Amino acid sequence: MDLKNRDFLKEIDFTSEEFLYLIDLAIDLKAQKNQRREIQHMVGRNIALIFEKTSTRTRCAFEVAAFDQGAHTTYLDGLSSQVGHKESIADTARVLARYYDAIQYRGKTQAQIEELAEYSGVPVYNGLTDEWHPTQMLADFMTMVEHSGKRPNDISFTYVGDARSNMGNSLLVTSALLGSDIRIASPKALWPAAEVQELAQSLLAKSGGSILLTEDMDEALPGSDFIHTDVWVSMGESEEVWKERVELLGSYQVNDVALAKTGNPNSKFMHCLPGFHNEQTTVGRAIANKTGMHDGLEVTHDVFESEASVVFDQAENRLHTIKAIMVATIGD
Ligand code: CP
Ligand code: NVA
Repeated sequence: MDLKNRDFLKEIDFTSEEFLYLIDLAIDLKAQKNQRREIQHMVGRNIALIFEKTSTRTRCAFEVAAFDQGAHTTYLDGLSSQVGHKESIADTARVLARYYDAIQYRGKTQAQIEELAEYSGVPVYNGLTDEWHPTQMLADFMTMVEHSGKRPNDISFTYVGDARSNMGNSLLVTSALLGSDIRIASPKALWPAAEVQELAQSLLAKSGGSILLTEDMDEALPGSDFIHTDVWVSMGESEEVWKERVELLGSYQVNDVALAKTGNPNSKFMHCLPGFHNEQTTVGRAIANKTGMHDGLEVTHDVFESEASVVFDQAENRLHTIKAIMVATIGD
């Protein structure tokens, strides 16, 4: 499979075969690292990491993956560089392409990363935009494969919560691409945009997947191998929307009752993280005090810490999957 010099701006940049190849490559790279027999394919490569929003997992995964493979990284943000406020995306792209073999970009709109890719001419990886979170999808589907022992086209799962943000969009479209059975349980006001739904529907004929959008958790959850959720207010949204969002989503919390509704004793909980499950963060505490939700927001502390929770395996897999996309596109 030759994926050299390809961008990864959104999930459908790859065919289902290519996407599955990247998951299998990540599984192999994980085994190589764990058995201390990793072969370096990126010696001497340089990768620019542009973050216009904050990050823990994505930044660290890119840096460690690059170092493991013999490459170097440079971290750039809006405060310590000219990106965004003083130099346009088009100019930044043409400068960085003279130094770097690939560019990771986390920012606001998809249009910005499309422009970066158009002007740079080197592979560009989307580390999250408002619309899509494609590197997260590689990790999420890898984690589901590992924990279920099934291929993606045999997996059923439910996404609960804010479904018109990057995670809801990406899980819907990736499932449709790979042929999974996805159910989305969310208030209609927070369903993916019509064009995202249409894109997902258009992929089903080839993949054989299925989609259920419902406001009813009781309809969505039975038979789910996994329950996914995400924060109720995403980066870049105003703090002001918390109150309205909690009113809309309060009854869509992932708790023991929701987990039991799967009827599947092996059902697992997933979350891209960071997540609000206790009051040990300033934001978590402030929202809990403001809304009176003292037992977690999108997920209870009990479920987050339970045997069913695979969130830290999922977080680890960001490393192996991000390594896979870099090795495949710029490696030897
Ligand atoms: N899941 C994820 O993208 O985490 P970060 O925001 O920490 O990168
Ligand atoms: N929807 C979240 C995902 C964080 C990884 C956000 O955009 O903030």
